[in-house]
Amino acid sequence: MPFVHNDYYQRLLIRQLPAGGRTALDVGCGTGRFARRLARRGYDVDAIDQSAETLATARALTAQIWAAGTIHWQQADITTVDLPDKHYDFISCLASIHHVPFETVGRLRDALTHDGVLAILGLYNEETASDWLLSLAAVPVNAAARLTMAISDKLQPTWENHVQRQVSAPTMPPSMTLAQIRTAAAEELPGCTIHRLLFWRYLLVYRKTT
Ligand SMILES: C[S@@+](CC[C@H](N)C(=O)[O-])C[C@H]1O[C@@H](n2cnc3c(N)ncnc32)[C@H](O)[C@@H]1O
Repeated sequence: MPFVHNDYYQRLLIRQLPAGGRTALDVGCGTGRFARRLARRGYDVDAIDQSAETLATARALTAQIWAAGTIHWQQADITTVDLPDKHYDFISCLASIHHVPFETVGRLRDALTHDGVLAILGLYNEETASDWLLSLAAVPVNAAARLTMAISDKLQPTWENHVQRQVSAPTMPPSMTLAQIRTAAAEELPGCTIHRLLFWRYLLVYRKTT
């Protein structure tokens, strides 16, 4: 299994779960690894993706690996699908928000319960010297992590990794810079925090207080 940055940062997103949360929405769930992780923690998860192929893999993996949770897979476009008002305690977007207009976060904010948390693991378009420096610093760490993952996959292969190697979720390059994301987020998600991460990602966390 290659070193997958989105998977690597899942633990960081898990740390953002609100205390006592029960309901979650995973946006652009892909093959469902994070949705399964939420369900294992007792969440009732709505997992939405517009790709029929990746959802089919997500369903197959869930049936084989872990069947006791409550995950509702839905093929839909997050920009238009009906979302329940003030319903979710936790909403996650892992490498998916740059597939849609950033303003879509407004719909996600409205779907959060009071004290609900929106956590976005996002990609950004590099434009500044500090972006490129961080990128450079990430290269050797990334190489070491890839090697470690490859060895561990050889020693302990899993069926989930095997299947996920065959079907990967649709990807696209990000268009917004971090500065543009900060500006747009300040409008839609006042009070949110944004931290740049080592592996070409940022973490946005918004807690709804109204
Ligand atoms: C880079 S993949 C990330 C998948 C998964 N979150 C992960 O971490 O592996 C982005 C996902 O967003 C989905 N996606 C793109 N546009 C979407 C939309 N408008 N509505 C719902 N899902 C969408 C794609 O089908 C793809 O599965």
